[in-house]
Amino acid sequence: MFDFRPDEGTPKPEAYRQLLDAAEALTSGEPDGVANMANIAALLWDFLPDLNWSGFYRVVDGELVLGPFMGRPACIRIPMGQGVCGVAAADAATQLVEDVHAFPGHIACDAVTNSELVVPVLRDGAVVAVIDLDSPSKARFDAEDAAGIEALAAVLAERI
Ligand code: SME
Repeated sequence: MFDFRPDEGTPKPEAYRQLLDAAEALTSGEPDGVANMANIAALLWDFLPDLNWSGFYRVVDGELVLGPFMGRPACIRIPMGQGVCGVAAADAATQLVEDVHAFPGHIACDAVTNSELVVPVLRDGAVVAVIDLDSPSKARFDAEDAAGIEALAAVLAERI
């Protein structure tokens, strides 16, 4: 049995250290990228409060294609440069969006989403996937969340 959830009230940086340790434990030595993405999507879902979606889009033949996730069924293909995920992938840059309704071109897969954090996963300088977190709360994510998920993306670069 895995129970990686942090204790209530754990400061965010410490919670992200624990999340990284859990991600290491779950993926180290496992070469199957789908299995690793599936477990990390579930880990994020379990670990982070106030989410309505956690998961991956992969870069496949120049567009983003839905990968393993937790939450409601989602858009399957996203062109590079479109929506929050497409911009994160095209610019190879984290997107921290306090209000998705104010983000030009936001793709509403689930009407309850109000804020979003998307972090690119880079391998050998190229974006191979993005990690997407959605929340029903406005401004759910801050710079500490972005730093934590960027550290996770670095761990996953060679494992997905
Ligand atoms: N809202 C995202 C699309 C993916 S879903 O949120 C799962 C976007 O604008 O890229």
